Amino acid sequence: LLTSAAHAQRPKPNYDESQVPEFKLPDPLVTQAGKKVDSAEEWNKVRRPEILELFETEVYGKSPARPENMLFEVTSVKNDALGGKAIRKEVSVYFSGKKAGPRMDLLIYLPAKATKPVPVFMGLNFYGNHTITDETDVQLNGNWMRASKEKAIVDHKATEDSRGKSSSRWPIETIIDRGYGLIAIYCGDIDPDYDDGFKNGVHALFNSKQKPAPDEWGTISAWAWGLSCALDYLETDKQIDTSKVAVIGHSRLGKTSLWAGATDPRFALVISNDSGCGGAALSRRRFGETLHVINNAFPHWFCDNFNKYIDKENDLPVDQHMLISLIAPRPVYVASAEDDQWADPKGEFLSVKYAEPVYKLLGTSGFGAKEMPAVNQPVQKQMGYHIRTGKHNVTDFDWQQYLNFADQHFQGS
Ligand code: GCU
Repeated sequence: LLTSAAHAQRPKPNYDESQVPEFKLPDPLVTQAGKKVDSAEEWNKVRRPEILELFETEVYGKSPARPENMLFEVTSVKNDALGGKAIRKEVSVYFSGKKAGPRMDLLIYLPAKATKPVPVFMGLNFYGNHTITDETDVQLNGNWMRASKEKAIVDHKATEDSRGKSSSRWPIETIIDRGYGLIAIYCGDIDPDYDDGFKNGVHALFNSKQKPAPDEWGTISAWAWGLSCALDYLETDKQIDTSKVAVIGHSRLGKTSLWAGATDPRFALVISNDSGCGGAALSRRRFGETLHVINNAFPHWFCDNFNKYIDKENDLPVDQHMLISLIAPRPVYVASAEDDQWADPKGEFLSVKYAEPVYKLLGTSGFGAKEMPAVNQPVQKQMGYHIRTGKHNVTDFDWQQYLNFADQHFQGS
């Protein structure tokens, strides 16, 4: 997905474990002042806020407070979706409270047979809600999309042929059959995925200046902020158990689900699928994608301060294991794919491992794995991890693990 200009300038990625530089990770359990953190209280009062602030100012950028006057409009309800298995709704969220401002559309599937509020998975998608389902009567998203032949995007717009094109990544029937709901949102409703100088999406709503300050929100922060706004809507929906909302994302949107989980403790479970650099993978390993490459190819994703650490990863006051630690003690699941070396599976595993001391301090079962598990052998305690065979993608195997993990934490089985 890199532009050709970015390809030309990008340094050759390292895929050789013996070439991974030596590094020392910052300790999540030692404060900036050098004091060891040995109680949950100190973690919650001192260290966690410190780490959150560092990620806000140096990595993703600070987001504004969410608007209090958002307008929610249910635009369609179908009580016999998926052959009668599901209730399907579409809900528009107008961020400014006015129909003129930017809006995001939620596509919601809930098990029809549910007798009480249900736990749900909520995630952003790359090409519109109409791509995740084979049902042809959901709204076709009219917003700007990244170019994709495969998804039948023409002139940056979805077409009728785009319908269902991402459905293999969203096994809706399986999710429904297992008793969960699903909420999908197109990321570009919140902020279009290109470097536009922050003139569109929700950035435009808040930034009267041309561009946010170096510590203000990039696109990943905006997307995560949008997910929190969606959660604000869910809290008004009586069919949903908002104490059991799992946030899920793939790749750039997996970076986003981790950041959403870190910034909004209402997300009860957090899943990162192949999130890689700037997501679950440790930046200091410089394996596969690096800060250099990602900040050049996608200058809008992070805040400008993140550029300071290009080729200077050791100067970062944090690394991505500390992002995982911000989610503690809530269940977190990180998944990698064997052929997705670009995302550094080992670096993703190590982030979970090095966040474990925080999970232990907070009294959870932690992670347990010391070494990377074999392919297709998930590890699931309070923290979960797997590396599956295959490429950068979301597969049924991935979803089986997420559903099992959710069963364990949401249904106690
Ligand atoms: C690119 C990018 C990754 C990102 C991925 C995706 O490959 O370099 O950081 O995760 O796109 O979102 O699909």
